[in-house]
Amino acid sequence: MKFELGSGGQVNIINLLIADTQLQTNKLLKVLIENEVFSNKKGEQYVDYQPESESTIYLSLGDLDKLDAEDVRKAYHKLGKTLMQYKVKSINVDFSVFKENTKHLIQAAIEGLLQSEYAFDKYLSKKKVIPTLEKVYVKNNLEIDFEAVLKETLAIYKGITITRNLVNERAKHMYPEVLANSAKAILQQVGVKVTILDKAEIVALEMDALLSVAQGSQKDPRFIIMEYMGNADSSKKIALVGKGVTYDSGGYSIKPSKSMDTMFCDMGGAGTVIGAMYAIAKNELKQNVVGLVAATENLIDGQAYKPGDIINSMSKKTIEILNTDAEGRLTLADALWYAQSVVKADEIIDIATLTGACVAALGEITTGAITNSDKLMSQVLAASKLAGEPIWQMPSSDEYRDMVKSDYADLLNTSKGSGGGVMTAGLFLENFVNDTPWVHLDIAGTAYIGSARSYLPQGATGIHVKTLYNFIKNK
Ligand code: BES
Ligand code: ZN
Ligand code: ZN
Repeated sequence: MKFELGSGGQVNIINLLIADTQLQTNKLLKVLIENEVFSNKKGEQYVDYQPESESTIYLSLGDLDKLDAEDVRKAYHKLGKTLMQYKVKSINVDFSVFKENTKHLIQAAIEGLLQSEYAFDKYLSKKKVIPTLEKVYVKNNLEIDFEAVLKETLAIYKGITITRNLVNERAKHMYPEVLANSAKAILQQVGVKVTILDKAEIVALEMDALLSVAQGSQKDPRFIIMEYMGNADSSKKIALVGKGVTYDSGGYSIKPSKSMDTMFCDMGGAGTVIGAMYAIAKNELKQNVVGLVAATENLIDGQAYKPGDIINSMSKKTIEILNTDAEGRLTLADALWYAQSVVKADEIIDIATLTGACVAALGEITTGAITNSDKLMSQVLAASKLAGEPIWQMPSSDEYRDMVKSDYADLLNTSKGSGGGVMTAGLFLENFVNDTPWVHLDIAGTAYIGSARSYLPQGATGIHVKTLYNFIKNK
């Protein structure tokens, strides 16, 4: 799909607002409304397809004052699917209806169209999604720099597809070494410095929590450091830490088979960080950002860690293991400590498919969040709103903190007492950031979904690439 200023497309796309004058002047629309075939309700679409002559598709966008980017993304995603159905090769679109909000809404429209072509079909002999749209002609009547908006949107969307493709890849092919090498191959081309620490280097750093999880796997762990220094004049650094468990069997606290078959998605946080770093670097944002991933598998063998073990961590805080399936927080404990003590990040965001409790609480729709800084949280929430990627802040209090205190070690890896799994997991992590402002995002429900939802495909969603990008951009 290529975008270009101009005209000459096969099908005209008409954006219809509420009480649009065209509803009076356009004969076809008048008849359709009179006969209740079309009601111009927000989200509606009417296809006037003429194989031989000029065709038109009407998109109802509702009230311009209430129209947000997410509505436009959804409408244009649906349009993309319709165009594919009719095998349309080129369209004309006029975005001038968007008025003051043009830039954000055009960005959303482009994104929606691009999203309609995504599929993870590399293992399918017969592809399900066959894109047909080659050219999108955008009417040259805009007061914005269209080329710049297009370039930014394409890089963000590429970031989203990078995340999806990494997360959808199965554990047979996607293990720590591969994840690390993929990050390097993808990010080096956009000027990100990627350093991969192997097991010996991880041992030297005394990342005992990461090593405990990794010891049951025949595949060695990796620690991935991705540095993008977009502002040489500033010493400020933001760390993005992603959970990188390339397969989570649960370990000796083994998962039931039904919960295990999608656990290749447990590096969803890592995938998101890599996709976001791509978009940030490709668009040359003026910030210093360091991505960190502790990559490992969580498996069972004679070497694996066991329930009851008391393990160490890079921070030297000791941890009593009650459940080997609560492994993500162990890998993150060392990655967060590294962010705080070695990178000396000024702010930290971690993103992780961390708890089934989050799926129970918020479903596949909303990401759960825990923070030690309401200021940082409000910035992340603003970025997520713009992205159309909802986040809900969960409570932090000492009662939850007490639930991860052990009688035999400094911390427990799962809580005593019942319930509250999103908070206890998040507040376990809080112990490893010291006083650095930090936000934790639990994407267990949102990173990988069972069925498609508007422009989010079934499987890996790539959610929060846009949130992280917007957050860094708005800094
Ligand atoms: N990777 C899982 C969490 C998960 C669940 C991700 C569903 C995606 C979808 C995590 O490592 C885990 O197993 N957490 C346990 C923690 C429990 C033992 C305290 C859980 O949620 O059951
Ligand atoms: Zn687990
Ligand atoms: Zn896990």
